[in-house]
Amino acid sequence: MQQFRRVSVIGAGYVGLATAVGLAARGHDVDLVETRTDRLEMLRAGSLPIHEPGMAAAYADTQTKSRIHPMASPAPGSDLLLVCVGTPIDEEGRSDLRQVEGALRSVADLAASGTPVVIKSTLPAGSGETIVMWLRGDSSRVFANPEFLRQGHAIEDFLKPTRVVIGAFPDADPDALALVEEVLHFTDCQLLVVGMAEADLIKNGANAFLALKLSFTNELSVLCEALNADVMKVVEGIGLDERIGSQFMQPSFGFGGSCLPKDLCALTNVGKSFGLAMHVTAAASEANADHQQHFADRIVGLMPPHSRRVAILGLAFKAGTDDVRSSPALRVAKILIARGLEVVGFDPHAAADANREVPGLSLANSAQSAIAGAGVVAIGTEWPEFRDLDWASLAKTMAAPIIIDGRRLLDGERMRALGYHFETIGAPIPRN
Ligand SMILES: NC(=O)c1ccc[n+]([C@@H]2O[C@H](COP(=O)([O-])OP(=O)(O)OC[C@H]3O[C@@H](n4cnc5c(N)ncnc54)[C@H](O)[C@@H]3O)[C@@H](O)[C@H]2O)c1
Repeated sequence: MQQFRRVSVIGAGYVGLATAVGLAARGHDVDLVETRTDRLEMLRAGSLPIHEPGMAAAYADTQTKSRIHPMASPAPGSDLLLVCVGTPIDEEGRSDLRQVEGALRSVADLAASGTPVVIKSTLPAGSGETIVMWLRGDSSRVFANPEFLRQGHAIEDFLKPTRVVIGAFPDADPDALALVEEVLHFTDCQLLVVGMAEADLIKNGANAFLALKLSFTNELSVLCEALNADVMKVVEGIGLDERIGSQFMQPSFGFGGSCLPKDLCALTNVGKSFGLAMHVTAAASEANADHQQHFADRIVGLMPPHSRRVAILGLAFKAGTDDVRSSPALRVAKILIARGLEVVGFDPHAAADANREVPGLSLANSAQSAIAGAGVVAIGTEWPEFRDLDWASLAKTMAAPIIIDGRRLLDGERMRALGYHFETIGAPIPRN
């Protein structure tokens, strides 16, 4: 029979909220600790500080049942402490573990009194000793449980994981490990109990591998443009080989978010700290930056002589989220602004954060007003609603009817029939 536990979740971002809501939905009592007062106030008022499909209703349900208790600092009495704070990288790609340090120091007394601590935040492999130091020394009840959820599917992925990985130190306390397994391995998916460095490498490696696949696809995409070939046909043919598979081969002008670019950097930097070259991960990061530069260059090349205005539709790093961390669309916006263009962006969910990241970016409150007067429209995020815009009427509002689609979202034939000069990525470029 399932036991209901009291669990503290530290950090109420994408992972912390999915964890809190998921565990509460399974009947556990959750203390949700968040240091940002704006986020805490929203949670206390019953609303969410992030956009994640299905999460608002699931959170409201847990509130009705009084299962999640938002609070500013950890309280005694929990059976388990789950650390879900952010681990961003700085401009040079180095891991910034200050949130983890703060969170671990805030629970060190509770950990010292015997409560097991599980790090769900993604750490660069090899951080184990530092973590134990921040917790003041006892490694036997410290574990890692890297999270593999996808933004846009956070709750369903948390509740139906592909695998559960638990990292433990060699002196792991068996009772503490059993409790961690009981709370976190609640489906019949495979459980892997490994060492701490292995757990972190599984997470860093899985994300880096996905990033490699995307960088490779995007490189093929640029090559297809040069060869007048269509990358969609090429990746279909490649992906039919079961050893390769067709997932994560959607071409674009680069990947972003808080995970893939970071884990490429983590593997590269950890390897380099041991004097290893890390050719593959370093190349995938460089290629990703190049693909955004290439897309920006194409936009500049398309600008009609009488216009300096570009509309970017979609600013989030992908559809289904309001997250703009390392967003390719924002990087392109920055390049265009630096080249002296006026850039107007629109995103159905990510506008406020986009403006903080790129202060020179003007924001429109609808796709229509972003497009009006633009010399070029660029599709930056694959939000499905952009397909359904009234493109026939919108052409008349532009300084010139020119579209470049960075996400293979729109139907090129239809756009050309409506009178647009339409280009996309990874396809023959019309010379008219
Ligand atoms: N976002 C994803 O899709 C995803 C998927 C898998 C793993 N991860 C990893 O999970 C971790 C969290 O990612 P995220 O996207 O949820 O980050 P996030 O930035 O959205 O959320 C982190 C939250 O922790 C809070 N916080 C920081 N220090 C705190 C402290 N001492 N006490 C309480 N709260 C504190 C922050 O204010 C913030 O609200 C990262 O390591 C990330 O790499 C993220």
